[in-house]
Amino acid sequence: MTGTQRRLVVVSNRVGPLNDEGKAGGLAVGLADALRKRGGLWFGWSGNVSDKGTFSELSTEIAGTTALTTIDLSEAELEGFYFGYANRSLWPLLHYRLDIARFDRQSDRIYRSVNQRFAARLFPQIDDNDLIWVHDYHFFYLGSELRQCGFTGRLGFFLHIPFCPPEILTALPASHDLVRSMLAYDVVGFQTELDRRNFASFCVQELDGEELPDHQIRVHDRVVRAIACPIGVDAEGFADFALSPEAVEHEEMMRDIAHGRHQIVGVDRLDYSKGIIERLRGFEQLLEDYPENRGTSQFLQIAPLSRVELDAYAELRTEVEQIAGNINGRFATLDWTPVQIMTRGFTRKALAGIYRAARVCMVTPLRDGMNLVAKEFVAAQDERDPGVLVLSRFAGAREELSEALIVNPYSSEDVARAIQRALTMSLSERRDRYDALRHAVFTNTAGHWCAAFLRELEGAPPQ
Ligand code: ADP
Ligand code: G6P
Repeated sequence: MTGTQRRLVVVSNRVGPLNDEGKAGGLAVGLADALRKRGGLWFGWSGNVSDKGTFSELSTEIAGTTALTTIDLSEAELEGFYFGYANRSLWPLLHYRLDIARFDRQSDRIYRSVNQRFAARLFPQIDDNDLIWVHDYHFFYLGSELRQCGFTGRLGFFLHIPFCPPEILTALPASHDLVRSMLAYDVVGFQTELDRRNFASFCVQELDGEELPDHQIRVHDRVVRAIACPIGVDAEGFADFALSPEAVEHEEMMRDIAHGRHQIVGVDRLDYSKGIIERLRGFEQLLEDYPENRGTSQFLQIAPLSRVELDAYAELRTEVEQIAGNINGRFATLDWTPVQIMTRGFTRKALAGIYRAARVCMVTPLRDGMNLVAKEFVAAQDERDPGVLVLSRFAGAREELSEALIVNPYSSEDVARAIQRALTMSLSERRDRYDALRHAVFTNTAGHWCAAFLRELEGAPPQ
């Protein structure tokens, strides 16, 4: 193909929105930022369950140059594919949480059948000149299913979450099938070098593969390119959001309620990978070890509810509320509440204002693919008086944002020390760190990520 650009076809479980509606989840935000610019077809789950299930109609909505085409899941598919295999087995496992991962044959079977069904419905919509880009842990098998249908064009895959080491992944009963199915893609992308290495190690140790030059991996007769390609945010767009009337209104509201106190914020889906419990313990440690912060700092955790039907998430919610309640019970005074938890969604403009009003942003996951909140926080800052990012060493963003204050989220003393350091940091050090972070966030944007991945995919040799 010369001259004309190939059509981009993106496949992911969640589809859209392309606008600024409050929807928590890095994948939807990152892809919307990328697709708004390039256009194409975005194919996935409608978010609805219908009794027609397998035979449900495709529904298409046009937004600018992007067509959003979706299908429903049946009740059994929602349970086996989404809650079961994707979120009870793969999510904890890939986040290194073997202790809470659950495996059962039935959901494995339904997961594969949903991948097959989505491939069968997508196949008539595409042709071999399209670039097909499949996303995330819901659709590992979709590429091999498309090949089974007869698709011979270029197929890419990107994993938004971590890829755990083979020593953990092999606990999954069908781990060999799963990784072998990834070899149907021409290019597989990961958030970090560590994830890419873990994938390569699995291929070598478990599948008898070999690493070739130029990030290629051969397993028997298949060669796949495995690259680290960290996702970014639409940094300019988010910086503009931070100056919008809605952001300014939220920023002012935050400053009014703070009454001159330092505002510390966390913004995460209520998920056990995010380290919210450990973060609260770190804040409590701050109030113990550095008592000058009692009455002068407050912590706001915005934590939209996520996957509430799963026990691990319901239990987490109870625990977060208990710990926050204990901290407030222990330290609150008539005119000061140390911790506030909010589970509602915000528009991204409102979030930008909240980030801007914060002196410190806590991004302290126990394990995270990338963490876009870290990048959004940086993009939203006022360069004259920037806030400080406290970042977990276990967030993918750590590879690019090394000028943040890097912490071990499992150590409350370490977290407390970092918050104290952030709260007492000189303006000149805050600016220096911000300059380096800003450079990283504005250099590797969502647009760059998309272009970099698609360049690799375009360059892949034909099947
Ligand atoms: P994950 O993908 O695991 O949820 P990320 O930090 O990568 O984690 O992405 C989360 C995305 O969800 C960010 O773009 C963030 O702005 C958005 N988000 C988080 N909380 C809210 C909220 N309360 N309302 C709207 N969007 C939110
Ligand atoms: C992460 C995952 C996405 C997922 C999102 C929200 O960002 O990488 O694939 O869409 O969380 O989770 P949910 O289960 O609501 O789609």
